[in-house]
Amino acid sequence: MGKKIFSGVQPTGNLHLGNYLGAIKNFVELNNDNENDCIFCVVDLHAITINQDPKELRNNIRETVATFIASGIDAEKSIIFNQSQVSAHSEAAWILSCTARMGWLNRMTQFKEKAGKDKEKASIGLYSYPVLMAADILLYDSTHVPVGDDQKQHLELCRDIAQKFNNDFNVNDFFKIPEPLIQKEFSRIMSLKDGLKKMSKSELSDLSRINLTDEKDQIINKIKKAKTDPLPMPSNIDELEKRPEAKNLIGIYSSLTGLKLEKIIKDFSGKNFSEFKENLSQALVDKINPISVEIKKLLNEKNYLDKILSEGCKKANDIASRKIKKIHEIVGF
Ligand code: AMP
Ligand code: TRP
Repeated sequence: MGKKIFSGVQPTGNLHLGNYLGAIKNFVELNNDNENDCIFCVVDLHAITINQDPKELRNNIRETVATFIASGIDAEKSIIFNQSQVSAHSEAAWILSCTARMGWLNRMTQFKEKAGKDKEKASIGLYSYPVLMAADILLYDSTHVPVGDDQKQHLELCRDIAQKFNNDFNVNDFFKIPEPLIQKEFSRIMSLKDGLKKMSKSELSDLSRINLTDEKDQIINKIKKAKTDPLPMPSNIDELEKRPEAKNLIGIYSSLTGLKLEKIIKDFSGKNFSEFKENLSQALVDKINPISVEIKKLLNEKNYLDKILSEGCKKANDIASRKIKKIHEIVGF
């Protein structure tokens, strides 16, 4: 049986290799399977949990759509829309925030990381962000949610919220309990400057990530400057655990090329990193450059991107408004 796929990406600019290998690559594969119904959401309501420049946000919404299409998602076969245009998301988030418990949200590590030391100054939206994410998923009876490893905890919370709602209102099976789809290996791509830190849009140094809009020369330069340790290339898999930068670079190479880790390690065992880095750069350029060229081309076709969103919004709204109507009945409105 086909899966009902839902996932979201925040339009906060600088989509990078971590987003691609951790999530978008998987979206494309799921979308290529004609059995699946796929919905990919540009989560602009999530984006404003931290300050955004309105003009940039508007551009980033389009850029996220362009990235989806340039990466190979077929807008004819999936629903692509932005969250703010389907009001059921905000509404369901409120209702579900009455189901979610403080104790559950207090455990969310992403909030702790993003809020930093001064939690008093974090927005309430940043705190309740995972409840909105649960609303996104549950409104569409999604069965599978492809995400990077950092979203695993949010998905567990979504499952808890769905179960509690079903129990509290005695509506067995009303909300479907979604399964996460997380890559088995290298579901967390790390920074090129620190193998223990996640590759992230918000990292100050641009050298820490490969952006999907990077030019060939930028990619080569960033890989040349990527941090390694002083040892030669590892000669067995066990070494990787103690060598996070080597592990990350080899993992990226493996994800890009489909080559097994064992094979890569065997081929480069004991060699200098520079030789491996040349191969890695080439694999990155082969994969990212066509995407980057296509994104830039699509950004000049605003009407086309806006049309994808408006058609997607109509379809999403049809589904979500039916579900929110049922939610109203269940809670007694
Ligand atoms: P975001 O840009 O935070 O909305 O993330 C979009 C998707 O990319 C989510 O599924 C994330 O889990 C995934 N993602 C973000 N950063 C990374 C990373 N460094 N490694 C793997 N997946 C990531
Ligand atoms: N929180 C996710 C992230 O930062 C984005 C997101 C929002 C999402 N709603 C979602 C992912 C629903 C999957 C399903 O990456």
